Amino acid sequence: MDKIVIRGGERLIGEAGVSGSKNASLPIFAASLLTEGENLLHNVPRLQDIQTISKVLKNLGVKVHGEGNTYRIDATEVTNEEAPYDLVKTMRASILVLGPLIARLGKARVSLPGGCAIGARPINLHLMGLEAMGAKIELRSGYVEAKADRLKGATISFDTATVTGTENLMMAATLAKGKSVLQNAAMEPEVSDLANVLKKMGAKIEGVGTSLIEIEGVESLHPTEHTVIPDRIEAGTLMIAAGLTRGNIKLLKCPFRHMETVILKLRETGMEIEPEGEGVRVVGTRRIRSVDVKTQPYPGFPTDMQAQFMTLMSLARGLSIITETIFENRFIHVNELQRMGADIRIQGNTAIIQGVESLSGAKVMASDLRASASLILAGLAADGVTEVSRVYHLDRGYEGLEKKLAGLGANIRRVKEEG
Ligand code: EPU
Repeated sequence: MDKIVIRGGERLIGEAGVSGSKNASLPIFAASLLTEGENLLHNVPRLQDIQTISKVLKNLGVKVHGEGNTYRIDATEVTNEEAPYDLVKTMRASILVLGPLIARLGKARVSLPGGCAIGARPINLHLMGLEAMGAKIELRSGYVEAKADRLKGATISFDTATVTGTENLMMAATLAKGKSVLQNAAMEPEVSDLANVLKKMGAKIEGVGTSLIEIEGVESLHPTEHTVIPDRIEAGTLMIAAGLTRGNIKLLKCPFRHMETVILKLRETGMEIEPEGEGVRVVGTRRIRSVDVKTQPYPGFPTDMQAQFMTLMSLARGLSIITETIFENRFIHVNELQRMGADIRIQGNTAIIQGVESLSGAKVMASDLRASASLILAGLAADGVTEVSRVYHLDRGYEGLEKKLAGLGANIRRVKEEG
């Protein structure tokens, strides 16, 4: 197992590229199940989660071939309808094959994802929507078993906006008979990127980027070519790295317009963030101001930036309150930040952070993807050496983060850990 070793205190200076979005790539990979022929995808990040979705697709008979950041996915033959437990348990987003499989084959057998470190994360809304479209669903031996002759368009109203739920049902609806309406749909840019791919495949979708999405089912879809949007969460993580180190960096291919809320909050802390050419210039200031944040569905402040923002607030002047409204357990990074000297109290879904003058390097353990990023950020700003273990969480969702940070001047390296 690898660990990341950081000697804190270096100012980040220079330029870094932003990789393609993980959470846009995953549903787009699943969408290839809807077409016969080869889809060509560019700007796909090389990540563990992309390998997992590739394995899920290969297990269904799909041909997946990746070279650099370009993937060719050919689902001409889908020979199997099962996404097995061993794959789904390593990545919940495997559930994204459920909608496309029922739409394409009229049947699917997908393992229930089970527990998750950051919260309960049920899939009841995915199943409710598929049932409304006429699928017969049974839960048996830990699997969702679904059948439908041909799905029928339906009006589906989500009690809670769900990203992968919206994606699953949108994909299913593209091949259903008649019109589907998704009310209170998730508006995340990754949902829109998927919708744009589906439209290129021939799907009829209106309301992309809004909470009301209308899909008129078609008989078949055709393969397409697409360049995945840049990852707004990776970009935000790099911005905070600059803020914490009083850095001065330029992010190339930065998805500025997908990051309005995050950028507003970071500017409130005193950071300077301005578009520059096709990129964004990010400049950190001497002492960070404390700012309150509440996570919300897009266009609100993303839960996937909460842990990283908390690291920034740990070193801010004054008190800040961070409220997590999406996932109930998403404070698992707090104990590790406290071990580095952060002053954080948790009350229910609220974290109260009293900024401290400095953090001190320590051995810490990553517990989920964004928590790992928050610990690496803490290490960049801390006095002395920080060792972050269990970085397989990081490798699920960041493409060579430590290399990008090293390229910006951070003293950071990956070492093999015994055992
Ligand atoms: N929810 C339900 N029932 C459902 C589905 C969701 O109650 O059937 C609830 C969840 O428990 C949660 C809320 O709805 O309280 C929103 O969850 P959502 O379904 O939107 O989350 P997700 O689709 O499972 C995606 C991202 C996550 C990101 C969340 C929220 C992908 C592959 N994953 O998850 O990304 O945190 O949306 O924005 O797109 C990450 O990248 O680190 C990550 C966890």
